Amino acid sequence: MITIPALRHPLKGEIQVGADKSISHRSIIFSSLAHGKSVIRNFLRAEDTHSTCKCMSQLGVNIEDKGEEITVCGLGSAGFKEPVDVLYCGNSGTTMRLLMGILAGCPFFSVLSGDPSLNNRPMQRVINPLVLMGASINSRSGDKYPPVAIRGGNLKGIEYEMPIASAQVKSSLILAGLNSTSATRIVEKEKTRDHSEKMLSAMGAKIITEGSSIIITPVDSLAPQEFIIPGDISSAAFFIVAASVVPGSEIIIRNVGINPSRTGILEVLLDMGANITIENRVIVGGEEIADIIVASADLKATTVSGSIIPRLIDELPILAVAMAVAEGESRVIDAAELRLKETDRITAICTELGKLGADIVELEDGFIINGNRDCFTGNQVKSWGDHRIAMSLAVAALISTGETHISNHQVVDISFPLFWKLLFKLSGRITR
Ligand code: S3P
Repeated sequence: MITIPALRHPLKGEIQVGADKSISHRSIIFSSLAHGKSVIRNFLRAEDTHSTCKCMSQLGVNIEDKGEEITVCGLGSAGFKEPVDVLYCGNSGTTMRLLMGILAGCPFFSVLSGDPSLNNRPMQRVINPLVLMGASINSRSGDKYPPVAIRGGNLKGIEYEMPIASAQVKSSLILAGLNSTSATRIVEKEKTRDHSEKMLSAMGAKIITEGSSIIITPVDSLAPQEFIIPGDISSAAFFIVAASVVPGSEIIIRNVGINPSRTGILEVLLDMGANITIENRVIVGGEEIADIIVASADLKATTVSGSIIPRLIDELPILAVAMAVAEGESRVIDAAELRLKETDRITAICTELGKLGADIVELEDGFIINGNRDCFTGNQVKSWGDHRIAMSLAVAALISTGETHISNHQVVDISFPLFWKLLFKLSGRITR
């Protein structure tokens, strides 16, 4: 439990947030698939990425943490060994879904499981296309939920139109496609994060994007790489909103990844009147990074819907905090996927921000918020065991008129172990 006192102390200073979680997972998994030694710099050390490292080690991959860098001795998927125990993915959907794409093509038996949250997240979205490719997969509750048991084997390419917008599903199918006997075409109606396409192409994979189609041609081997992971815009988002809503704030966040498939949050906040400047843009390892400068501003309501949703799906809880103090009525719709994350984030954010004083109404696929800059009064709230809910509530607490108590606040360790330290640093006066 953490207590945040009623202070509207401006956020001031300069920070660097943790490394991008999506890219960190992928750097370990893709390096394991290469032949030879890859080096990863600025890797995210957090619970989710630790789960990925452990699972890859169980498959026989040598991963060494050398402090400044991580080295991975890739064996190619043909070099993976049958795991003698369950591959435990913890809270990490990315670990489980991407690994399923690899294990579907490996000629052995494997079982993937996770914590109670992950074991209640839908896996049919990955199982269905992998079975069409020829994999033999069984899972709990009529092949819906983990644990997932896979007897891998020869895969054939398929043409697959994705029924939902999901980078995890797309990446899983790309990985399966690389290990198939024929080409795979994935049609993505709405664009999702494209880190897998970029990183694997740099390693020599044949992945062509033609409009909404992604065509994957099997390859014999991938080349090892040197990865430098950018800062995570999904982590930066908490501080971008915090500095926007706490009067008198001005902060700089250095080296944040600004891949366009991830910057929906910046577009929406700018549309709401946020004072955000992007400076020092450079390309590092195929990804654009920049410094983000944020000063407080009076925000106005907005509606978020349609194709931008996958480009800010992880930022919707913190966006709700911004909307709660923005002038006017804001809406988020077309975001039913938010119910299928680490927790049902629609119910979680509506319940907890409601307890703190926000005027928020739950919809099947989103929420409606009637903004009021003084709405947050403080209260006892809970994180629902969800890292992004905990961090969103912390930002709401910064502009509350009363004390806020957040239970299970340590859950931020899943994606952003430095969160509390950086929040204390920028806001100066918060005490535990
Ligand atoms: C991720 C994709 C998104 C996102 C998750 C990370 C990834 O999930 O919510 O935090 O690394 O590919 P979906 O693909 O399920 O939308």
